[in-house]
Amino acid sequence: MCGIFAYIGPKTNAPKIVIEGLKKLEYRGYDSWGVAYKTTDDIVINKKVGKIEEMKEGPWTKAKSSLAMGHSRWATHGGVTEKNAHPQATENRDIVLVHNGIFENYLEVKKQLQKKGHKFISQTDTEVIAHLIEEYGKKFSFEESVKSAIKKIEGRYAIVVLKKNENKIMTARKGSPLIIGVGTPKNEYFIASDIPAFLKYTNKVIYLDDDQMAVIGEKSIKFLDIKKDKEIKKRIIKIDWNVESSEKGDFPHFMIKEITEQKDTLTKAINQDPEIIEKVAQAIKNAYGVYLVGCGTAGKVGMVGEYLFAEIAKKHVNFAFGSEFGNYKDFLTKKTLMICISQSGETADTLEAIETAKKKGVKIVSIVNVESSTMARISDMVIPIKAGPEKAVASTKATTSQIAILTLLAYACDGGVKIGKQLLITTASQINDMLNPRYGEHIMKIAKKIKNVESMYIIGRGKNYPIALESAIKLQEVSYIHAEGFAGGELKHGPIALISKNTPVIALVANDENKKDVLSNATEVKARGGYIIGVSPEKEEVFDFWIRVPDTGSTSPIVNIIPIQILAYQLAVLRKNDPDKPRNLAKSVTVK
Ligand code: F6R
Repeated sequence: MCGIFAYIGPKTNAPKIVIEGLKKLEYRGYDSWGVAYKTTDDIVINKKVGKIEEMKEGPWTKAKSSLAMGHSRWATHGGVTEKNAHPQATENRDIVLVHNGIFENYLEVKKQLQKKGHKFISQTDTEVIAHLIEEYGKKFSFEESVKSAIKKIEGRYAIVVLKKNENKIMTARKGSPLIIGVGTPKNEYFIASDIPAFLKYTNKVIYLDDDQMAVIGEKSIKFLDIKKDKEIKKRIIKIDWNVESSEKGDFPHFMIKEITEQKDTLTKAINQDPEIIEKVAQAIKNAYGVYLVGCGTAGKVGMVGEYLFAEIAKKHVNFAFGSEFGNYKDFLTKKTLMICISQSGETADTLEAIETAKKKGVKIVSIVNVESSTMARISDMVIPIKAGPEKAVASTKATTSQIAILTLLAYACDGGVKIGKQLLITTASQINDMLNPRYGEHIMKIAKKIKNVESMYIIGRGKNYPIALESAIKLQEVSYIHAEGFAGGELKHGPIALISKNTPVIALVANDENKKDVLSNATEVKARGGYIIGVSPEKEEVFDFWIRVPDTGSTSPIVNIIPIQILAYQLAVLRKNDPDKPRNLAKSVTVK
């Protein structure tokens, strides 16, 4: 959700570098974009609504400058217009700024500035920050005025600021991602919302923490702790992501690339530092109340976790969506443990849940993919899922890796981490068969049959009930077909009224204690004319179409979601949707 990219260094094609960088952040979701670059005595701003054009050579890309910044905006405050797009600037472009996050008290500050004569042309909170910096600039240096403005901002933010007469970049963050890439030539820096945006140039990074600011000049960089008002030192860290891991390669879309990577990503997830798994398992056992918290797909993974802990560790844990977690605040104590699940580690609702928990002294564990994320940085313990960059908006490989970690934790709580690991290794090798083209061709037959249906349903029981819900999310977000998941047993309490002739119903039938019951639910649906697509290790009579999955026992949620991910992808392609960038959605939901 929104992307920031900025460049300062010896290269003279900064605007082109920035546009390229913004294109690499497209996966985050956006509806308008803009670039600003410094000339000898001015800052030139170009903004557009819509998609970042293909890299055609033009005045924007040819402009010569060594200092530029850009932004892809996903509208929150104010509609999708060029005026509201970033960069935002003061009247004479003295201060130019890009901003992610939400400036919660902007209306109050805007009124104060209006009284002082400031005129606003956009509806954004961002423009208010530019004017605030300008106002402080009447008394202070550029650095001091940015710092003072930041101190007035309530909410989460990541900002990059330019000033007309200064060859400097000021950048700061709180609760919104921002990473500095350190280039190979001396004094070259990239600032971006995500590492893959500058991976082509460098794998050396500096992570800014909350309330920290960097002042980057042509020949210097310094870091400040905004709250303590003092200079600090920051470490340069070398990361092991490579360019290929964040590019599509020979695949037509990121989504299918990431689905196909799951054998490897699962293996990486399983190969955890045994110490951290044991440590977290111990914390779970010692806790008085454990909450699994996440949003969307990561939330469904948390729900799977609830079943896994019950089944494997005989332990009751609670699940809550990030946005609902606050309702449990009265039950939180210093003995509570919160386990947050998130691909990006930047989801605002989950971060807010953490804030609520921290106020009560709750210990936080996070299971995240982006190790540099806010969530990872504010947690007491972190289990990285190591899935590599996930760029398609629809989560696939991160999902199965998160389920793998929860499976491992559940086994570790029962003293059987080795058994869990072995089971997961076997599962990883078995899913290899599901990731070959022949498997995809088989699923394509059903995709072609159902591509024009209005609605479809998914049923599951036990740990495959949350997988039915997750299947619905996958199908909804990329195929745009109405899809809903139900617990098999709930059908006859209402939803079965939706079934008519040929309504597709996917039944997730694992070889476990729920098998008989879910098959009986499928039979009830079939009796009302439903068309049953069975996802199961064995072919059952009730199936009209069978998608075979390996029989893997406790890891059935992992193997059951993969064919649905493939089906969702194929439906998106058949219906001419962009599976990587579904409408109205952003990869990282950084607003509430
Ligand atoms: C759906 C999807 C979303 C995310 C949700 C949380 O495919 O990806 O539902 O799961 O927005 O995001 P993270 O995992 O980054 O916290």
